[in-house]
Amino acid sequence: MPLVPMKQLLDEAAKVGYGIGAFNVNNMEQIQAIMQACKETLSPVIIQASRGALKYSNLIYLKKLMEAAVIENPEIPIAMHLDHGNSLATCKQAIELGFTSVMIDASLKEDGKEVAGYEYQVETTRSVVEYAHQHGVTVEAELGALGGIEDGHGAGLAADDTTHLTDPDQVVDFVQKTGCDCLAVAIGTSHGAYKTLRYDKDGNALPPALALDRIEKIEKNLEAAGFKNYPLVMHGSSSVPQELVDQINKYGGKMKATMGIPMTDIQFGIKRGVRKINVDTDGRLAITAAIRKVLYENPEKFDPRDYLKPAREALYKVILGKVKDFGQAGHAKDYAPMSLEDMKKIYAKGSSSCGCCCGKS
Ligand code: G3H
Ligand code: 13P
Ligand code: ZN
Repeated sequence: MPLVPMKQLLDEAAKVGYGIGAFNVNNMEQIQAIMQACKETLSPVIIQASRGALKYSNLIYLKKLMEAAVIENPEIPIAMHLDHGNSLATCKQAIELGFTSVMIDASLKEDGKEVAGYEYQVETTRSVVEYAHQHGVTVEAELGALGGIEDGHGAGLAADDTTHLTDPDQVVDFVQKTGCDCLAVAIGTSHGAYKTLRYDKDGNALPPALALDRIEKIEKNLEAAGFKNYPLVMHGSSSVPQELVDQINKYGGKMKATMGIPMTDIQFGIKRGVRKINVDTDGRLAITAAIRKVLYENPEKFDPRDYLKPAREALYKVILGKVKDFGQAGHAKDYAPMSLEDMKKIYAKGSSSCGCCCGKS
């Protein structure tokens, strides 16, 4: 099976009602771990690279590693996705590299600092959609601002901070004006291991405050405007398993008390139109916990394979759990893959009459 347009993965997921994990990758071991889990469970999957990941790997290495995953797993539908593209130029670069989908994150200006206004978000996203669709490439956009508690931007900064959350009343206008294929919504999740600012009196972390009701409102508004089954995206969806944090700390790490997104909250979202679920941090934690353990217990070791192999195994186990919990397991062979050429024709017609169930005519 060749690389598949992300739009097809999401539309097929919507037909059945499951979510698809979009897992961040930076190196070979991460890609292998994800693909092993997806191969064993017959899971369609999105592998995604951030701008930082592309820079780290000098673009070409990561592209080739992702292509290796496609060659080695012909039975698995795979979308190769740019995570958090910050400009039309960055998205163009990813499309030239062969990515089948791009995210344009225009929540901040190109400098990554200044919070962008609505008009800027619309105009920047629209320009990316125009370019990407000419190439058959799917576009994920963002409305509102996600971000990290650590970097100080976006929603999730405080339990009662709704400033940067997605406004359900803007969503239909945004989707209509931009033509984006799926939308990342800011409902209080944030990137990284520290997603909550809520603690009990003993200093134990409490779950992050999420505005899950906004997902319901967004889905309802989209449906009322004719966008039935429109795919939503949840970023910052790591659950930050306590056992991984404990393992890191047991073997010399110094992580603070924390808590991630409960799987039940993610599954609530999936029932209401969330089709793409972004996970990076849980993989990072699994890798670091495994490497720390090996090196702590075997200080004489220096062959990277001695710790990268257990790290790969630890990530594989994390992904195995996610693909089952998100519901994508078992769906790899449900449909025949479309090509970017097929998508080009569909976009050129100016409609999504592609047999999918997005409801647009
Ligand atoms: O969006 C955040 C992802 O976790 C990527 O992180 O920019 O450090 O590669 P990164
Ligand atoms: P986490 O940091 O929760 O894994 O989120 C990753 C993400 O949203 C990547 O875009
Ligand atoms: Zn993200």
